Amino acid sequence: MATVMGNEVLEAVLAQVRPLLGQGKVADYIPALASISGNKLGVAVSTVNGEHFRAGDADERFSIQSISKVLSLVVAMNHYAEEEIWQRVGKDPSGQPFNSLVQLEMEQGKPRNPFINAGALVVCDMLQSRLSAPRQRMLEVVRKLSGVPDIAYDSAVARSELEHSARNNAIAWLMKSFGNFHNDVPTVLQNYFHYCALKMSCAELAQTFLFLANGGHAAHIESPVVSARQARQVNALMATSGMYQNAGEFAWRVGLPAKSGVGGGIVAVVPQEMVIAVWSPELDAAGNSLAGVAVLEALTQKLGRSVY
Ligand code: DON
Repeated sequence: MATVMGNEVLEAVLAQVRPLLGQGKVADYIPALASISGNKLGVAVSTVNGEHFRAGDADERFSIQSISKVLSLVVAMNHYAEEEIWQRVGKDPSGQPFNSLVQLEMEQGKPRNPFINAGALVVCDMLQSRLSAPRQRMLEVVRKLSGVPDIAYDSAVARSELEHSARNNAIAWLMKSFGNFHNDVPTVLQNYFHYCALKMSCAELAQTFLFLANGGHAAHIESPVVSARQARQVNALMATSGMYQNAGEFAWRVGLPAKSGVGGGIVAVVPQEMVIAVWSPELDAAGNSLAGVAVLEALTQKLGRSVY
């Protein structure tokens, strides 16, 4: 008989995965993230039918980091025509670490996809061109999607990343040298670091991203967040590029569109059904949450879910 979702199913999966804690490494290239306890483990599920399930540290907020790259793309989709976006950033997996520079030089400053740092920086550059207050706009979007009015940026994390931003600076300036970056680099980097420094819990993330499982509709908002076609496109990009150089390995183990962040969060979409958000700060070699991937693997196996 198929397993039916419930809090106890999530509890059982966390118990199964907990022995992996201690095997990964908390991100330390952003010093403000290095002090987080590696011992955390949480999972939350929101379904398109309006159910919510959670277990472990599902209500504790953490730095969402690169998960924000999906949200910035969605905001850009609301302000730009399709071809305007995709002439500046590609749709293919990079097969490289998220902050790599090599491909960018060889490919004339056009990032492979919007979910590596270079791609997200181009998207942030686009937002800077069309929005009067891009940071405020992002807060409005996440507060509206999550239904939680006090979601905010962790300014200490944003500052810490700014102080250690040589690589993201190099990426932005390299793109500028190719003409694929139009605004002031420090201004756009500051916006990007703030987006990465959004503090949210698994429960808040699962609710926020539910529109991607629901044809672009957030249940509590009348107008669609994006069109059904755009929701499919974002899911396709998550499936191919959301887990960086481990996208293939992740497809093999889990089989869902997903996006990770170096804060240890991962958001995974089961189209037409639910969003699963996991958090555990220790990362594997590709920068994805080690226990988080294991939770998604165990849960999808139990539930018999995969898009493949
Ligand atoms: O730009 C950076 O390096 C970080 N703010 C975000 C990187 C990240 O989360 C990649 N994820 N796995």
